Amino acid sequence: MHLKCIQAASLAFLNICGALAISSSSPFLGAHSVNLWRLSRERRTKEPALFTSQDDSQASFHAQVSYTEFPEQWFEQPLDHFSDDPHTFKQRYWFSKRHYQKGGPVIILDSGELSGVDRLPFLDTGILEILTKATNGLGVVLEHRYYGESIPVANFSTDSLRWLNNAQAAADSANFMTRVKFDGIDEDLTAPDTPWIYYGGSYAGARSAHMRVLYPDLVFGAIASSGVTHAALELWEYMEVIRRAADPGCSRRLETSIAAIDNILLNVPRLRKPLKALFGLASLEHDDDFTNVLSSPLGSWQEKNWDPDFGSDAFERFCAALAHPFGAIADERSIALPGGLELPITVLNYANYIKENYVSKCTQESTIEDCFGSHDAEKFQNISLSETWRAWTFQVCTEWGYFIIAPPAEDAPRIVSRLTTLESSSRICHQAYPPGEHFAVPFLPNVTAVNVLGGFHIAADRLAIIDGEVDPWRPATPHSEYASVRPDTLFRPFKLIPDGVHRYDENGLRNMDDEPFEILNIHKEEIAFVTTWLEDWNKTQRRK
Ligand SMILES: *[C@@H]1O[C@H](CO)[C@@H](O)[C@H](O)[C@H]1NC(C)=O
Ligand SMILES: *[C@@H]1O[C@H](CO)[C@@H](O)[C@H](O)[C@H]1NC(C)=O
Ligand SMILES: *[C@@H]1O[C@H](CO)[C@@H](O)[C@H](O)[C@H]1NC(C)=O
Ligand SMILES: *[C@@H]1O[C@H](CO)[C@@H](O)[C@H](O)[C@H]1NC(C)=O
Repeated sequence: MHLKCIQAASLAFLNICGALAISSSSPFLGAHSVNLWRLSRERRTKEPALFTSQDDSQASFHAQVSYTEFPEQWFEQPLDHFSDDPHTFKQRYWFSKRHYQKGGPVIILDSGELSGVDRLPFLDTGILEILTKATNGLGVVLEHRYYGESIPVANFSTDSLRWLNNAQAAADSANFMTRVKFDGIDEDLTAPDTPWIYYGGSYAGARSAHMRVLYPDLVFGAIASSGVTHAALELWEYMEVIRRAADPGCSRRLETSIAAIDNILLNVPRLRKPLKALFGLASLEHDDDFTNVLSSPLGSWQEKNWDPDFGSDAFERFCAALAHPFGAIADERSIALPGGLELPITVLNYANYIKENYVSKCTQESTIEDCFGSHDAEKFQNISLSETWRAWTFQVCTEWGYFIIAPPAEDAPRIVSRLTTLESSSRICHQAYPPGEHFAVPFLPNVTAVNVLGGFHIAADRLAIIDGEVDPWRPATPHSEYASVRPDTLFRPFKLIPDGVHRYDENGLRNMDDEPFEILNIHKEEIAFVTTWLEDWNKTQRRK
């Protein structure tokens, strides 16, 4: 999900300012993305145009549109669903009654780790519009606690973040479903007397599956799109999907580059500095910070979308840059550089790309170490609410993990440096969240808290699993190669979108028939199984 200089928390990952993104839909690419995010924000007020030229994220693109048809609404939630603490906060939501008719279902979209505003396109032309139109339903976008404006605390200290976890967020949704009163609608549409269909993509996709399992009486049906139901400390497979799915020439150039770079970093100490200098990063002290920057452009794979207005072509531009300007014929050639460096030509192209797209964002008043260094914990101590990266990173550090590392087999082809380890990727967890009085972040996230709900094997009637064939998050979903193959049925849909990347069914076109074949197809299938579920509801529940 997601890269302008705005808060784009998409597992949505880290997305920064045209270059790096802290988007919560991205895997966690590391501390330097937090640095750049922070620095770009600081600078943004002074130089508003600096980071707006490239890598438009889905989120930032659509945040510019305003959806006056769907005014924001507020629902009061307990801060802590599992104690007597009387504190409450206001959770934001939006709804569309465009297609609603009495007797119709409610289709709710969990907005996950982004501001709910970024999900409003799905109410207008995406999956909510598509499903409510087909069922005379009411569409709802529900913002997640600690994101957007649904902020229950005064700062993002470790203690203040302790109510940000899966159980609390799921309980918010359940409470909302049983108590909400929609403005201007007379009927009581609460669960369980009205059928609610829960939809989420990515992190929220896992939530959607969890809701069906945790609250089976409230959630009549659920769709988990790119739902990362299997949490893992290490996710080297994320980059493996990209390596295998990218244009073969691009993958080969990446492998060649990383092998040459690792060889120097690991075996030829005197050339480390000249190598980093090529990338404009000579003064970056730690090699793992350097290799971390090298991984950043790979985060744009998941920003691809079938709708060019919605996705980013940054990955294609990166690949083109690696080949430029010599073409494949030059791939095997090396160039001897002053100081004894001899490197494949593609490494020079890589270096130029990093310089132009990342290093150049770090200007004047900041040092290279400020922008790309992750070893100084001081940088990550600001707990102000404007440090929005702290929320998803906290979830990563406590329950979700997904730290990107190199493939474990030493001789495996790779597009990520061997210096990218669990230790380097998870360092920020220990730096940014010193133990509080009431809560301490565990040394490593407790992924069992997620996996105990089913992991790869999560299943229920009226729970649909929809994934993308080349989604880098696929290895964390029930479509992982580690999961068992299941039949695809109307009551347990299990669908893989050919050539699909991340959450490919979540957005749509105003005129569905204009969608590309595979997207139109998945949307039609979703209409078909949701309609079947609702017919089932009519046969059983409505008679009561
Ligand atoms: C953070 O907010 C809490 C109240 O929510 C307050 O008690 C605490 O002092 C704040 N921490 C800091 C460091 O300002
Ligand atoms: C924390 O960051 C905010 C902006 O994100 C800034 O306004 C504030 O001055 C910073 N606080 C400290 C103590 O640096
Ligand atoms: C991890 O989560 C599981 C499931 O919620 C829980 O049973 C277990 O106690 C947790 N482990 C630790 C070390 O907190
Ligand atoms: C279920 O019943 C309602 C109310 O009679 C009706 O409007 C709706 O079309 C029915 N849904 C399906 C899928 O048959």
